[in-house]
Amino acid sequence: MTAERRKLVAGNWKMNGLREDGLRLAREIAHRAVAAGRDAGESLACDLLICPPATLLSAIGPVLAGSNVMIGGQDCHAAAKGAHTGDISAEMLKDLGCSHVILGHSERRVGHGESDAIVRAKLAAARRAGLTGILCVGESEAERDAGRALAVVEAQLAGSIPDGIGPQEMIVAYEPIWAIGTGRTPTPLDIAAMHAHIRAVLGRRFSGGNGVRILYGGSVKPDNASALMAIADVDGALVGGASLAAGDFWAIARSCG
Ligand code: 13P
Repeated sequence: MTAERRKLVAGNWKMNGLREDGLRLAREIAHRAVAAGRDAGESLACDLLICPPATLLSAIGPVLAGSNVMIGGQDCHAAAKGAHTGDISAEMLKDLGCSHVILGHSERRVGHGESDAIVRAKLAAARRAGLTGILCVGESEAERDAGRALAVVEAQLAGSIPDGIGPQEMIVAYEPIWAIGTGRTPTPLDIAAMHAHIRAVLGRRFSGGNGVRILYGGSVKPDNASALMAIADVDGALVGGASLAAGDFWAIARSCG
């Protein structure tokens, strides 16, 4: 693992967490991170990021201060400002202290009709605002069964990455749709093949594509995290359900080595 590809464990809280529960969860994670920072025996081999709902970003920011746990958004609009009722710009996330934003999650591609072109514009917006975009890609079960998983993900990468973006300005998260929230994961061989393919595609797209971190997401749990993190070209995890329990999230982070 090169310094540029230190692993990242990111928690996507999705639409979960009222104020009290969200603040408690953030406090527990920050507390563990501060303790790990003090004690070399406890120190982590990964970076940590949590992406709470937008409603909690401003309250959680100060809770994480001094802990090394980064905070990010779950989506942004492509425009910097304007008449877009209900939307949040990348600049607004940056203004709240976010360092990252998740973009093109399948729950937005499917539930909100986000095309690759929309995701590409959002990734460009994140870059404009100085945020690192976490670009989510992944095939449906039907696409995998049809033997099209690699081609589907390659097309999503081709359509969703804006020209001119640098390898340090984005992260890719491979999240097979059929693995999200189901307790199922691809085989280690399938994950290795997909991540190698993504790395090859990125390498053709950028000079320095090797520097882009590629996360795996979809039913990452404490009991499978070590095996997932050991797969070649897996540079961390994007964690949904298990990121809602501090102990589970921490166990996953510890599995980075
Ligand atoms: P689960 O970890 O709950 O399967 O969710 C994965 C995910 O969608 C993270 O973005």
